[in-house]
Amino acid sequence: MIYPEFELKPQFLNKFPLNWDEIFGNYGPIHVELGFGNGEYAAYYTSKNKNINYIGFELSITSMVKAQRKLKRNGIKNAKLILCDARFGVREFFSDDSIDKLIMNFPVPWYKNSQAHRRIIIKDFFNVLSVVLKYNGEFELVTDQEWYAIEAYENAKESGYFKVNDIEKNPKREFLTRYEKKWIRFNRDIFRLKVWKIKKGKITRLLRSEDDMPHAVGKITEQKVLELKGQVFKEDNKIFVVKNVYKEVNGDAYIFKIISSDDEFTQHYFLVLYPKEKMKWVLKLDSESNPYRTPAVKWSVKKIMEVLE
Ligand SMILES: C[S@@+](CC[C@H](N)C(=O)[O-])C[C@H]1O[C@@H](n2cnc3c(N)ncnc32)[C@H](O)[C@@H]1O
Repeated sequence: MIYPEFELKPQFLNKFPLNWDEIFGNYGPIHVELGFGNGEYAAYYTSKNKNINYIGFELSITSMVKAQRKLKRNGIKNAKLILCDARFGVREFFSDDSIDKLIMNFPVPWYKNSQAHRRIIIKDFFNVLSVVLKYNGEFELVTDQEWYAIEAYENAKESGYFKVNDIEKNPKREFLTRYEKKWIRFNRDIFRLKVWKIKKGKITRLLRSEDDMPHAVGKITEQKVLELKGQVFKEDNKIFVVKNVYKEVNGDAYIFKIISSDDEFTQHYFLVLYPKEKMKWVLKLDSESNPYRTPAVKWSVKKIMEVLE
């Protein structure tokens, strides 16, 4: 985090969806970019549209740092950047009917079938979009992959939630992103799809408003603690693995290193187990780690305590 005014860490907040009016301190329109890369578009877009509240998602830490530098250089005041899977963030951080515009410039297409689970613009994305976009709110996708644009067009149309424009080939754009310039240099065609919400669908969100800190209290059999290392637990769309177990050198506490997933959304964190009065032990999130309190995270706490009893 080089310029903390730009980076938002929703995992430290506990009320979902987030209150963007409060975060920005105004009621401006919400514009969201998925995969902002090095932030060229974010810097241009927020300079040009000073009245909007811009929120960008990215997975790459290097890009996050570069984008923050660009926003700082441009004196931007209306942008927040989040390091998080955009698929999770768009579904969990925005209230129904709250986003005015959502932009995705040059998503990684993930060609291979084995990588398809990483794609962002899939059928389910349009369900989420139909809930979080405002009525008449716009989604704009720009890509160099014609098949990707066609697939998005078909998914949007089939959902019935959107007015869908025809795909435009080599549209005139007033600002070209880094990837766009690259592909134009290589003589590739560019495709743009625009859709507008006309109907609302239904989604299930994982994060609830005011989620408690997950913790469990119980009697344990200590010898079972070390046996947990390497164990995998699975139930419905939740899975977690106990990657390692550490014992405190001068004390009774144990730390578990956990990796959990809710569908495609994976998180790494630590749980701490320590003795309390009357032979009871407490298991809770370690204060050093701050995962989103998804069903898999909460379940890992409950399940481990169950196994230890
Ligand atoms: C091909 S680059 C395009 C960058 C920029 N939009 C541009 O046009 O120059 C795709 C970007 O999306 C990011 N990305 C990929 N999957 C993502 C996800 N699930 N959530 C957020 N960002 C993602 C990548 O880290 C990468 O920076």
